[in-house]
Amino acid sequence: MAFREYKIGARMFGAALGGSMMITLYFPTSDIVLVGSTEWGLQKALSYGRIGGFSYEDPLMRGEGKPVTVTLDKDPATNQPIDPIHAYVYPPGVPFPSAINHPRTAGKVVAELSTTKGRINEADHQKGAVFVVAHAEAGGEVTAYIENASVTRNWNPQQVLDAAGDENSAYVGSGKIMFVREGCWWCHTLLPEQTQDWQVFGVPPRLGDFNSESPTAFGSDRKAPDLLHVGSRNSSKEWMMMHFFNPRLVQPHSIMPRFDYLWGKNDANGKPIDFDQWRAEYTKYAAGERVYPPEVPDYAPKSDIRYLMDFVLSLK
Ligand code: HEC
Repeated sequence: MAFREYKIGARMFGAALGGSMMITLYFPTSDIVLVGSTEWGLQKALSYGRIGGFSYEDPLMRGEGKPVTVTLDKDPATNQPIDPIHAYVYPPGVPFPSAINHPRTAGKVVAELSTTKGRINEADHQKGAVFVVAHAEAGGEVTAYIENASVTRNWNPQQVLDAAGDENSAYVGSGKIMFVREGCWWCHTLLPEQTQDWQVFGVPPRLGDFNSESPTAFGSDRKAPDLLHVGSRNSSKEWMMMHFFNPRLVQPHSIMPRFDYLWGKNDANGKPIDFDQWRAEYTKYAAGERVYPPEVPDYAPKSDIRYLMDFVLSLK
């Protein structure tokens, strides 16, 4: 065969590859911008940060470089009481989500409000910023948009974190990384289907809930309860702690694996956790040789399990 045929073949292959890449990369965006981000879509975008899964910024998936979600009932700049509000704190250097970097992905109306009223284009990730979700009327409908509170309210990241304190801070974005890394989606979905699921697991998500979310972690082939609204039906931190340390503590026949290693080496007081002893005591309990199971240790303020719990309990 002449060399010419190879060249034609190579070109055809290049065109097919390029074309399919264009379709994959461009078409979903052009569709998604027709549907404006919902309020929940914006909350997710802001709480998960730039990528809520594997990325070159956090290749080992440690949950680093993510925003912190805080709840405030006082204005951190003026100290005046305000209606409780979620604020999404991006310390200096933490990458912004695409809803900020490429506002058009949030839809036309949302993008316009976020830029004009919300002034998101004045945010600089090197300096850090604090965002909130605000509302305005547009075309006779109340629409949620993103407000850059660092400019509009003079809130700076460190001041907001200090005002909220650890008990009102949630590492939701880092927790989503744990959810993806630990493979929770092998068994759980975040997508109730439009069947009788509604009655048990709550309403399914809508278009516009995912504009800025990557990856979406819908899950497939469910073997366990849907978790999209799990925080509404079970918001007990104690239950979650026991269940993650060893699901059999609360659900004797659960097939869910234990995630005790997410506690790390030390507990909340910095004391080493003796997993071998714990399991030995638990085995006795399971065999009926002990009345109570051993206590589940409190987790350290910045541990993988803290992140995961914050994520799971944010699923309302
Ligand atoms: C091997 C399958 C499997 C994996 C992997 C798994 N789970 Fe589960 N999970 C289950 C099953 C089965 C149940 C229901 C029984 C129970 O409560 O333990 C459950 C229950 C739960 C519940 C309570 C649900 C409710 O309706 O109250 C939560 C929360 C949960 N899992 C979170 C997680 C998270 C987070 C991960 C990843 C770190 C995970 N699971 C990994 C199988 C799994």
